[in-house]
Amino acid sequence: MEFIYSLTPFIFDWLDLIVRWIHIIVGIAWIGTSFYFNWLDSRLDREINKDDIDGELWSVHSGGFYHINKLKGPPKNFPKELHWFKWEAYTTWISGFALLIIVYYLNAESIMIDKNINDISPFIAIIISLIFLLGSWFIYDFLCKSKLINNIILFSIICIIIATFLSYLLTEIYGSRAAYIHVGACLGTIMAANVFRVIIPSQKNMVESALNNKQPDLKKGLDAKTRSIHNNYITLPVLFIMISSHFPFTYGHHYNWLILLFISIIGASVRHYFNLRNKKQHKVWILPIAALGMFLLMLYVSVPKIIQKDMIKTTKDQISFSEINNIIKYRCGVCHMNKPTFEGFDDPPLGLVFESPDDIVKNIEKIKAQVIDSDIMPPGNLTGITDEERNKIRLWIESGANINN
Ligand code: HEC
Repeated sequence: MEFIYSLTPFIFDWLDLIVRWIHIIVGIAWIGTSFYFNWLDSRLDREINKDDIDGELWSVHSGGFYHINKLKGPPKNFPKELHWFKWEAYTTWISGFALLIIVYYLNAESIMIDKNINDISPFIAIIISLIFLLGSWFIYDFLCKSKLINNIILFSIICIIIATFLSYLLTEIYGSRAAYIHVGACLGTIMAANVFRVIIPSQKNMVESALNNKQPDLKKGLDAKTRSIHNNYITLPVLFIMISSHFPFTYGHHYNWLILLFISIIGASVRHYFNLRNKKQHKVWILPIAALGMFLLMLYVSVPKIIQKDMIKTTKDQISFSEINNIIKYRCGVCHMNKPTFEGFDDPPLGLVFESPDDIVKNIEKIKAQVIDSDIMPPGNLTGITDEERNKIRLWIESGANINN
């Protein structure tokens, strides 16, 4: 029994690894087929003169030539096997939700909740999360079914405003990283629900109508097309959010929701450029503007830090290592030690230990990213580190992270 108990954290680490791995694999399969069919449809040669063929395409890949025809209507004789592309989407959502449970719900206290922002119980945090996942789909679906959908620009602007408001709200409810992941999870839920509720039902209708010699429901077909275009644009922000956990200067920024908005707009506009290019409209100017946007965002995030750094340098304080060691011992060590003393931690999080000077020096870049470039650690500032202490760590690192003074 004791043995199984001590195995538990390892089981969760491995579960995290396996489910994350699956999530990425099926996600690639989903986005891959979706990008491929999008590309395929735009590159079809439509100038061929064959009665039943809408367009054709030749390609070479994996050691062979492929000749693809898109039919104008349903096939006269249905093939024995018709391939659908839906499980890629469903399994991506299912594995994503499983990850949300393994990584966030089960560690709600330390990873979702930031006591400085909102002192809620894990149960409430999880309920709010579920409300956001479902609610964002209902709001989006409602807008898609309203008259607003006929005005693409107005529809996009309203969706962006609502999404921005919801991300802001999330940063006021959860810790920054959990807030970011929830925006991604809401968008991912919308994408998967689009497949499940609209795109696949429309395709089923197409197949059934063909088999029964009936006209397919045109409205269903048009709705499916719209939703699949939406998914195409939403993909880029979602993928950014998934990798954002490696970039604390984004999710850890004071205006993280604003940064997310800008990066999403830049991503969607690059997607827009490629979609237009597929339609043979070459609006190349979009790309340098997107690059400029990224550059300005970088300046916005980093210039204040450079200025702050210069101000600290001029104080010429010498920071001794023993002072730094004490700060880290009291503010971080309670969790990041071999036998953590902080309630609820049986093992050091992510195996990160800061007990010896060597441990600290070895992880200096990570510490800088979590404590100085952002305020992510300590989570929810549970140990009450002060700005002055953060500045001392910064100054010590700047002056060469010397452990011998
Ligand atoms: C209350 C417990 C707690 C305290 C105190 C704490 N941490 Fe952490 N730390 C965590 C947890 C939990 C994680 C894992 C977070 C995750 O997986 O997202 C973590 C992760 C980290 C990481 C790795 C982040 C990454 O994603 O690579 C670093 C670096 C870190 N902490 C540094 C610090 C420093 C420096 C301090 C002190 C200023 C500190 N921590 C204080 C709990 C704590």
